[in-house]
Amino acid sequence: MRIDIITVVPEIMKSPFEASIMKRSIEKGLIDVHFHNLRDYVTDNYKQIDDYQFGGGAGMVMMIEPIDKCISKLKSERIYDEVIYMTPDGETLNQSMANGISLKKNIIILCGHYKGVDQRVRDQFITKEISIGDYVLSGGELGAVILCDAIIRLVPGVLGNETSALTDSFQDNLLAPPIYTRPAEYKGWKVPEVLTSGNFPKIEAWREEQAYLRTKEKRPDLLED
Ligand code: ADE
Repeated sequence: MRIDIITVVPEIMKSPFEASIMKRSIEKGLIDVHFHNLRDYVTDNYKQIDDYQFGGGAGMVMMIEPIDKCISKLKSERIYDEVIYMTPDGETLNQSMANGISLKKNIIILCGHYKGVDQRVRDQFITKEISIGDYVLSGGELGAVILCDAIIRLVPGVLGNETSALTDSFQDNLLAPPIYTRPAEYKGWKVPEVLTSGNFPKIEAWREEQAYLRTKEKRPDLLED
């Protein structure tokens, strides 16, 4: 999967791709990430990428021309399955969206900054608008990193144990059950006996029940769907 990220501040995005699972996915050749600094697509000497709103109002707006130049150049090089715009008024990211995007071959992610982009960018180029939650960040960059993390770990081969992404919370609309590791007893606090019983059908049934109970307690809305 190839991910092209368009931003005015690539420096705040790079380090998450230089550690842990995202780094390894790149090293394994499963994910190819490219950052594009919008200022490299500005022709005027001041490297201006934003301007005042028509009609007045606070906040600068990202101009269409550099974005058009960048997206058009990328599109002339390969076919993209999705051109995503990170914005607080987009569709809220969830696991099923992440699953869908993880199956794509080439995607572009455009990060908004300042007040956002000229509406014509959204009308002409964007195929999907994604929010990471009902709060406003200073830009789409951190949201884009979260989106990338959510999708990259789902790409086949990225996680060592193929089943581990499938047993995550939300994959079946249920939260994950409680998990434990050694020691089986610490300061008198014991691991549920069933988990050390070696009886795998019983363990599986216990996990299913716990997942259901946890979801009912913490996120009853998930059971309504
Ligand atoms: N840009 C600013 N706020 C955002 C949010 N909540 N999600 C995605 N992009 C954003």
